[in-house]
Amino acid sequence: MKRILVTGGTGFIGSHTVVELQNQGFDVVIVDNLSNSKETVVDSIEKITGVKPAFEKVDCTDFAALENVFRKYDGIEAIIHFAASKAVGESVQKPLMYYRNNIVSLINLLELMPKYGVRGFVFSSSCTVYGEPDELPVTENAPIKPAESPYGNTKQINEEIIRDTVKSGAPVNAVLLRYFNPIGAHPTALIGELPNGVPQNLIPYLTQTAIGIRKELSVFGDDYNTPDGSCIRDYIYVVDLAKAHVCAINRILNNEQKEKVEAFNIGTGRGVSVLELINAFEKATGVKVPHRIVGRRAGDIEKIWADPQLANNELGWKADTDLEETLRTAWKWQLKLREDGVM
Ligand code: WQD
Repeated sequence: MKRILVTGGTGFIGSHTVVELQNQGFDVVIVDNLSNSKETVVDSIEKITGVKPAFEKVDCTDFAALENVFRKYDGIEAIIHFAASKAVGESVQKPLMYYRNNIVSLINLLELMPKYGVRGFVFSSSCTVYGEPDELPVTENAPIKPAESPYGNTKQINEEIIRDTVKSGAPVNAVLLRYFNPIGAHPTALIGELPNGVPQNLIPYLTQTAIGIRKELSVFGDDYNTPDGSCIRDYIYVVDLAKAHVCAINRILNNEQKEKVEAFNIGTGRGVSVLELINAFEKATGVKVPHRIVGRRAGDIEKIWADPQLANNELGWKADTDLEETLRTAWKWQLKLREDGVM
């Protein structure tokens, strides 16, 4: 059984990826500092797959603690690195925390890999590296724009650190997955997005409004240059996104890469506006979402969606889950959280 280390593996995308790795027969070790997730996610993963992943409560910025994980679990073949701070707004308020956490974690992992014979590295990157794209749909050759936030900047800097490390001759192969907007939850509703406090992202706020936790959803602007005036994004089902990571791991371990560092846009290729998404949710669930148009949110880009051709062709992967089906999983998850008394 090939062993994979997943940092941030109790988080939203990490936990869904652990499930898909186990479904494909990988042995998974999770490292997470539980700063933005709960250890009970490990039990939920076991309930889904029947296999309990190894779990180590470790902060990736702690080199010694991280090295102990490599010592304890030998034969790790590759790493999928999710562990990072990821709130755009918070990163503007606390840049140093973001630079330290997101960059030191990466450096520690890259330093330890050659020492323990770990060759594969899959990095959780983001479409924020493109800023406001000049052309749509956006391809991997689109120019990298100056980041709009320290969070986005750490993604750009991390991609460069990985490229420079590989260029220096380190025995590392890397795949950079640039996510668009991950949404939804596992069909079992045993794992999903569990934001701390008031959600910043659209879908958790939308489902909390639909269930009555929030009074109404604020739509941040309808005066953009888009058909209905609201911002457009590429919303991708988190399970489809998780499967892309397994494809990336297989590509590396089966020596199918064309270059030692490759970047892929992981999106659906479908642009959806905020207002279209609200309508799709109401149609998919029959539940109304009280909402009101308010002013624009600082830092929001107007429209972005992926050209996923490269990932489709090279990874043999495609996000093919229907939007309404995806939104139903988000709603089922919100209902489960109420049923379990979580919120
Ligand atoms: C989506 C759209 C908002 C909330 C960010 C990060 C990205 C990734 C995903 C971490 C926008 C609108 C939102 C609300 C609204 N983060 N909106 N009312 O900003 O596209 O991407 O989260 O990996 O890196 O940049 O996602 O969900 O915050 O917003 O109208 O209450 O929904 O204006 O147009 P975003 P989002």
